[in-house]
Amino acid sequence: MIKLLFAFVFLTCFACHQQEKTNTASNLAVGTATTQNDPTRFRPIFHFSPPKNWVNDPNGLVYHQGNYHLFYQYNPYGTKWGHMTWAHATTKDFVSWENLPAAIPENEQDSIMIFSGSVVVDTENSSGFGTKEKPPLVAIYTAFNHSADAQKAGQSQHIAYSNDGGIAWVKYEKNPILDLKKKDFRDPNVFWHAPSKQWVMAVVLPLEFKCLFYGSKNLKEWKLLSEFADAGNKRLIWECPALVELALDGDEKNKKWALLISSAHPDSTSKYVGMQYFVGDFDGKTFKNLHKPSTTLWLEYGKDFYAAIPWNQNPDGRKIILGWMNNWAYADTIPTSPWRGQMSVPRTMALKTYAEGIRITQQPVKELEKLRKKLHHFENMEIGSPFDLIKGVRGNVLEIEIEFEIQDAKEFGIKVAQGKAEETIIGYEVGSQQVYIDRRKSGMVDFKNNFASKDSAPLRAENGKIKWKILLDKCSVEVFANDGIVAITSLIFPSAGSQGLSLFAKEGKVKIKHLMIWELGK
Ligand code: FRU
Repeated sequence: MIKLLFAFVFLTCFACHQQEKTNTASNLAVGTATTQNDPTRFRPIFHFSPPKNWVNDPNGLVYHQGNYHLFYQYNPYGTKWGHMTWAHATTKDFVSWENLPAAIPENEQDSIMIFSGSVVVDTENSSGFGTKEKPPLVAIYTAFNHSADAQKAGQSQHIAYSNDGGIAWVKYEKNPILDLKKKDFRDPNVFWHAPSKQWVMAVVLPLEFKCLFYGSKNLKEWKLLSEFADAGNKRLIWECPALVELALDGDEKNKKWALLISSAHPDSTSKYVGMQYFVGDFDGKTFKNLHKPSTTLWLEYGKDFYAAIPWNQNPDGRKIILGWMNNWAYADTIPTSPWRGQMSVPRTMALKTYAEGIRITQQPVKELEKLRKKLHHFENMEIGSPFDLIKGVRGNVLEIEIEFEIQDAKEFGIKVAQGKAEETIIGYEVGSQQVYIDRRKSGMVDFKNNFASKDSAPLRAENGKIKWKILLDKCSVEVFANDGIVAITSLIFPSAGSQGLSLFAKEGKVKIKHLMIWELGK
């Protein structure tokens, strides 16, 4: 931005010191400007992306013998949706991923695709597919029969099992295990409910905006427990449900249940998908919403976080979710190649009481701190200019922590991925109390006319302060505001050289209590 060069920079630095910590690791992933026309330049460093081809929902997240498994919706033949198959990767630390052979393939002959679902470790061998000594992994997923024969077409729930830790899978010979003879009935999410000593499945009727709960002793025979409906947002669809138990305000003796539903986006004027949740009690039969049915709670305010589900049976007790970082509204047009689609960072959920009620908070898993290489640290700066360039710091793989103390500026924030005519703005509007990501000038935006957007979320200052954690990884920005009460996730496709950063304040000043920028790398 030419303007930038001439901008009057008004910066008072009370005690501005820059402290640099250098890590010994060599392959710093920052500042690498690859060729402008090379679509591989968007390949994220610490977000999971498949080596090639199309990806959508994460499936079958489960912990087993030291590995966090990720199965995911995958097209083995191309970069658009189709031939849905469960692909497979694992991680031990949420930072490095190992790609494994595709796990559950479509059955093309019978026109059956493998849609979303979950995996459990059947510890007591309740299914009989393994032994008690060597418990099987059991996958519970939707089989989508797209046959032209109306008698056969539809969605039903199937299972498959693995006795080698998730590499080889055998489809159960007596599938389906649940069939309502419906066109749309999908995305079973199963977990062990200890108090009622049964497996519980949440599964949706997407176009009827209903979540059904089933119970089973052996993962093969299921009976309906209850139905949850007539609540929250019912504008577009309900998909990928997940019921998760969380300690309220960190109190392990006071737990509540969160029901996550992939549905519409808070921007009600569009066909964008998004995620909502409900908070309530679950007694092994019924989910009781603690809020009024008319209350809609949003898990995300960005356009690029969908189909998130938690890792099952995580031994350290954290409830960690992973989402697909894309939006059905433009997913198959994003300009990456030879892959299309990626996952969010794994996020630890918590449940906290606020003045307005109980809310979910999300934070990137702490393991990501391992990526921190070099720290640029600033303190107590007063920003009162239209622009202030953060000198000497550039990069497209960064973690930023920033705390503002509101003064008289009407709007303030930080710009990332800045280049000659490009910028992605993370800002706060004091009057309307809204935090936002504005990607309208973020780089390539016109591959689809609904991609360019500004996504805002309500955010109250806490004691006059606004705090953000921002993750930038080549083609994405994730913002976690005020300890994760708000999350905004956005894909961006900047030019290779757009790696600048600057702070801004409009019509007044803002104080920056501290600003930490870590260059990240593996
Ligand atoms: C959600 C979804 C699921 C379905 C899968 C198909 O993104 O539509 O409901 O199982 O994708 O790929």
